[in-house]
Amino acid sequence: MHNIDNMEQKFNTVKDSNYSASKEDLVILGIESSCDDTSAAVIRGEYLLSNVMASQDVHRQYGGVIPELASRAHQQNILPVVSQAIKQAGITFDDIDAIGFTRGPGLLGSLLVGTSFAKGLSLSIDKPLVDVNHLQGHILSHFLKVEGRDNRAPKFPFLALLVSGGHTQIVRVDDYLKFEILGHTIDDAVGEAFDKCAKLLSLGYPGGPVIDRLAKEGNPDRFRFSKPHIQGLNYSFSGIKTSLLYFLRDQLKENPNFIEENKNDICASFQKDLIDILLDKLIKAVKQTGIKEVTIGGGVSANSALRQRIENEGIKRGWNTYIPELKFTTDNAAMIAITALYRFKDGHTCPLEAAPVARAASLTE
Ligand code: KG4
Ligand code: ZN
Repeated sequence: MHNIDNMEQKFNTVKDSNYSASKEDLVILGIESSCDDTSAAVIRGEYLLSNVMASQDVHRQYGGVIPELASRAHQQNILPVVSQAIKQAGITFDDIDAIGFTRGPGLLGSLLVGTSFAKGLSLSIDKPLVDVNHLQGHILSHFLKVEGRDNRAPKFPFLALLVSGGHTQIVRVDDYLKFEILGHTIDDAVGEAFDKCAKLLSLGYPGGPVIDRLAKEGNPDRFRFSKPHIQGLNYSFSGIKTSLLYFLRDQLKENPNFIEENKNDICASFQKDLIDILLDKLIKAVKQTGIKEVTIGGGVSANSALRQRIENEGIKRGWNTYIPELKFTTDNAAMIAITALYRFKDGHTCPLEAAPVARAASLTE
């Protein structure tokens, strides 16, 4: 059994009942800096007060995230982003009950900025620190509440299809802090497949949103690429990536303008194949577990065709589906704050000497 909570061992966190928080409306500041988005958010109880984000455009010209540039940009952004989150929430540092921060997985240099900032702040305002697994954050983002909105949340146990630039997993969630990975990718993440396709078509980075947009104008049944044959609930996306590469190479030999002339159809067809692969295992997971509460999360869950497909399958198969608001799909600190809230309530705090864990994912696979 794979358990995201295994991370506790590596993280060396303390579970001290003295810290157990009983106050109803805890105020949590969340800080996220695992990749190329610097974000800070404030929640009171499960209600979102602010969620501020600074994205880094600097990577676009390189066709992917450059770790060194990401850390430097985090360093520039973190203070203004945190100050803005506090201001927008209408609170002072004094009102904060705990500081949640992403400890991993992610780029080490990026994680170091958020972690060090959180530690410095914790010392200066004398508030406890709570370390958060970024992946748990994506899954628990469904419990965030927004004033005046229909705050529908999944019931336990539920299945989470976690699809991002670094991960593709089907997770069984039995409680706020009880996770079991039922399936995971054995090579690339689905987000990488989107980004790689965009690179081959010279569409820029990140590729997912561009493919999503072009696919709307294309025919999803025009081309087919080779699908993986992986046992159980695991995924593989490296084969389909290579299949697209060879397909384009062959077509370009015949017609140098092939990509230009067929861009929308290639995007729509490739996207459909990726979604079919995702759904195939998700449907299997529902059948195996009998759990019909189904959520999606992570950057790729912003994909409009995937969102529509999950909704349609839900209606067809009698699932209750939960699709996050777009702003909670990609990396954000609100999801870190809500995860910190549940951890803090459960008595988890983190010592000052805690270091970031870049490859925390390997603990869960
Ligand atoms: O969760 P996320 O923001 O960062 C990681 O933790 O990896 O996910 C980023 C990934 C990228 O691969 C990006 O191309 C993909 O999410 N993505 C999308 C869409 N928006 C972002 N993929 C497909 N369709 C989208 N609309
Ligand atoms: Zn993410």
